[in-house]
Amino acid sequence: MKLKLSLLLLSINFGLKTCVFADTIDFNIDKQLDYCDVQIKKTLKSISSDSCLMPRSIEPNQKNWNTVDIYDWTSGFWPGILWYDYEETHNKSIEVKATEYTECLFPLLSYEHKNDHDIGFQIFCSFGNAYRLTKNNAYKKAILIGANKLASLYNPKVGTILSWPWIKNKAWPYNTIMDNMMNLEILFWAARNGGSHDLYDIAVSHATVTMKNSFRKDGGNYHVAVYDTIDGHFIKGVTNQGYSDNSLWARGQAWAIYGYTMVYRETRDKVFLRFAEKVTNLYLRRLPADYIPYWDFDAPDLLKQPKDASAAAITAAALLELSTLEDNARLAKKYFNASICMLKELSSKRYRDKGKPSFLLHSTGNYPAKYEIDASINYADYYYIQALLRYKEMLKRSE
Ligand code: GLY
Repeated sequence: MKLKLSLLLLSINFGLKTCVFADTIDFNIDKQLDYCDVQIKKTLKSISSDSCLMPRSIEPNQKNWNTVDIYDWTSGFWPGILWYDYEETHNKSIEVKATEYTECLFPLLSYEHKNDHDIGFQIFCSFGNAYRLTKNNAYKKAILIGANKLASLYNPKVGTILSWPWIKNKAWPYNTIMDNMMNLEILFWAARNGGSHDLYDIAVSHATVTMKNSFRKDGGNYHVAVYDTIDGHFIKGVTNQGYSDNSLWARGQAWAIYGYTMVYRETRDKVFLRFAEKVTNLYLRRLPADYIPYWDFDAPDLLKQPKDASAAAITAAALLELSTLEDNARLAKKYFNASICMLKELSSKRYRDKGKPSFLLHSTGNYPAKYEIDASINYADYYYIQALLRYKEMLKRSE
């Protein structure tokens, strides 16, 4: 096994035209995780958990985090980052903070709180990691409630979850967005851990219907699929955060890569593996040489567009997993190599500003709405540290 991983690593240096920038830096996994720990401590000094405000993003002209309340869609990422850091460092004071910030999120589970699909991100990144590391039964209950709240948005006529229940008009009678693929994970987990088997069926139906309607022939995603509520038919694919309805929004494609990889892990249905390959291969084909996408692959004057490090971090984490699930050795190697190239570039000084407490620079949150452009964003950091830990685990397993 050790030999296998060494061969994979060797092929990064010799086999690929790319990784040109990334090859020039020293990539030491422990060094990257130490860096994350240092940045986390800076963040902890700059905010207070008494108020339950979560660090969300740092705009290019700012030096510190903009914080959000627990109802923001990104509120689970900061507790999740703390749990990953605790997993690595075993530092008790980080565990205390991870616990405090996670428990801030309990009000999201109240039935008075009308959630959308983001309840999956909010609850699974926080309580999911908390339960994985502590086995505290209160956290397990929180995940099960979160999964049921997500499932309550499922419409059997359409076969998907209604992602944004607060948008309902003539143009968009019913919407299902690509990001929602990520939140099937809490349903699969709940179905395996005492929840109803219906949760599994809902996740599989959502993934299947989304696969049919939310993608163009080449495997590129529509951010938003619009459906009819009377007979459930697919009306059109449009964008919300991408450049145009038919353009390839980088983070949307990253959510698809991660989502279908996870659905294959949970179902072992090869249809989903083949689809994960299809969406991945398109993304890799269209990447620039440094492995970090611009925010939309089809935005005009591409070289002048801002990058999206968050898409790269999500994809890097996903491809490590996909490489372990592959039944095709050539593809396994290709995905593993690509992921390491992404991680190397994200770990370079081009993505770091020691003056800011985030891990990564250069993410684009919502270009059309003109915010978080070329910014630090908490979900980029979350998937970056997740990817580092996945890689470290793979190295350990190969020893
Ligand atoms: N889930 C929203 C986004 O990806 O920006």
